[in-house]
Amino acid sequence: MIPCQRALFDIPADVAYFNCAYMSPLMRPALAAGEAGLRAKARPWTIPTTAFFEDSERARALFARLVGADAEGVALVPAASYGVATAARNLAVRAGQRIVTLTDQFPSHVYSWREAAKAAGAEVAAVALPEGCDATPPVLAAIDDACAVAALPHVLWTTGAKLDLVAIGARCREVGAALALDLTQSAGALPIDFAAVQPDFAVAAAYKWLMGPYATGFLYVAPRWRDGAPLEENWIGRAGSEDFARLVDYRDAYQPGARRFDMGERANFALLPAAIAALEQLLAWTPDAIARTLAAKTAAIAARARALGLSAMPEDLRGPHYLSLALPEGAPEGLPARLAAERVHVSQRGRSLRVTPHLYNDDADADRLIDALARLL
Ligand SMILES: Cc1ncc(COP(=O)(O)O)c(C=O)c1O
Repeated sequence: MIPCQRALFDIPADVAYFNCAYMSPLMRPALAAGEAGLRAKARPWTIPTTAFFEDSERARALFARLVGADAEGVALVPAASYGVATAARNLAVRAGQRIVTLTDQFPSHVYSWREAAKAAGAEVAAVALPEGCDATPPVLAAIDDACAVAALPHVLWTTGAKLDLVAIGARCREVGAALALDLTQSAGALPIDFAAVQPDFAVAAAYKWLMGPYATGFLYVAPRWRDGAPLEENWIGRAGSEDFARLVDYRDAYQPGARRFDMGERANFALLPAAIAALEQLLAWTPDAIARTLAAKTAAIAARARALGLSAMPEDLRGPHYLSLALPEGAPEGLPARLAAERVHVSQRGRSLRVTPHLYNDDADADRLIDALARLL
């Protein structure tokens, strides 16, 4: 168990923030690193040309360690949608085939697949997850010979329902389907081993559980796709881009590995240092220990919420970091705004409250949440 880490964050004592799935707060060291990077731009003569490469390589390596991948396979992207679009550009879909998603999947992980399906004469098939049941069996059943791509998360962003990605990866390989993952709501808080899952593409926006700044993210590309087509053609993705004097000796060859998929201006001097500081701290804590600690926090809240008539999915069926509390009949409208007025922050998705803590939450936060719910329900 990791002790409460609130001192690392700029969260006032009377704020109970249970909305990491919306946006994590930036840690103080990440904020300092970002500020220093932004300040360097005021004095560009202090930014050496090597800075265009060093932080990018460091960020690649750190993300790779977090998910059990090789750093060569990691590209730097600004959003989940960018990574999904890259996957959709490179994965083949034929007429009559299906792209398997989940009902209510996050739109950034749907629209590119709808376009790909339309262009190919294929269809997107969204698997409905029956409430309170294991989410994996219906997904496995949908991945058959007609499935071109399984485009899935690790946990569903609305409910936290968890998929067994090792089993799903094995099923995809069995039927010849590609696996394209959006790990935005899991990477950093829910351990994953890419060597075991073997995704074709996997993206994660960093501003939630990776605790990075907005507009940073990572895309993993499996070795067999690393000679694929990037979304854009930028100068730094080409071979020899380290030699600034010879950039107009245009080259057909790309930088090795997944670097060709990097976004333009990937060497963001303000955002990358902050993302790196966050990844370093997550690795020091370890995703295993983060998951264990958040599992205890969500379980304790679930038990107390149950006494107030709010029901939660069984622990083994949801992400340990993710609690969706079904509201009882007669619960007032606009509950998140009412809670926010008491400085308790959660989200509402459908008729459920989404409560997503992190290591900055303490017992007093949980008391504030439960006391406020008891008063408002
Ligand atoms: C599952 C999931 N994927 C992606 C995102 C963010 O998408 P993007 O980076 O394309 O803005 C969110 C934001 O809520 C999300 O919940």
